[in-house]
Amino acid sequence: MTQKTVTGARDRLIVALDFPNADSALRMVARLRGRVGMFKVGLELFVAEGPAVARRLAAEGESVFLDLKLHDIPNTVRAAAQAAAQTGATLLDVHASGGRRMMEAALEGVRAGGDSRHPRLLAVTILTSVGAQELSEIGVASTPESAVVRLARLVQVAGLDGVVASPREASSIRAACGPDFLIVTPGIRPATASRDDQARVATPASAIRAGADFLVVGRPITRAADPAAAAEVIVGEIEQALMLGRTPEPLATGGE
Ligand code: C5P
Repeated sequence: MTQKTVTGARDRLIVALDFPNADSALRMVARLRGRVGMFKVGLELFVAEGPAVARRLAAEGESVFLDLKLHDIPNTVRAAAQAAAQTGATLLDVHASGGRRMMEAALEGVRAGGDSRHPRLLAVTILTSVGAQELSEIGVASTPESAVVRLARLVQVAGLDGVVASPREASSIRAACGPDFLIVTPGIRPATASRDDQARVATPASAIRAGADFLVVGRPITRAADPAAAAEVIVGEIEQALMLGRTPEPLATGGE
């Protein structure tokens, strides 16, 4: 791990607050507080409400992943990352496809706006909603897995803390980038749940076994009849996987 100490199963669960306004997001926070490790403020909520929700949760002592997936020219990303860091967020992300100089600029912004520990800066490799077919449509001839590993190495060279990637690629990234590189995996679906629009999915247990540090889960928790109970089930699965240890072999890809 980097400076973020991840201890228990609960710490590893990040809940995506994909809501249209602060009221509904904060109602969900009230139901989940103390049961999950972090709350993720993404584009929907950020565009609707600005930095207020992230700032408020951080001030209340919650860990916040500000999932802005920044992608612009280096100068703009540096300034945006600095402003984002001032919210007190624990994690922030950019798109790796913005290139090395953009990622380095984001790191400068984070250092200027945050403190010595926060936020940790991550980069999205390939969105977990993008499968092999869609990747080829945007001109990337390689498989999602090799594109992800190539980008993850670039993220590491740029000096960032880790990546956001599909759980199906976590073990290859772990092998390529070593034990201290953070791996955050969305696209988590308990075995019985719907896939929604995620193409490259895995269960919580298989993501942990493949080497993920943090799991981002949205709809399987936030749209459950009982979100707290759904979170508990996932924390239980994470706990069991941690006790069983991790598999060194890459998971089979596919499932597009
Ligand atoms: O509802 P669901 O569990 O699919 O939510 C996944 C969350 O993770 C969403 O907020 C989405 O924006 C985010 N995410 C993702 N793939 C990435 C990065 C972030 O699905 N590569």
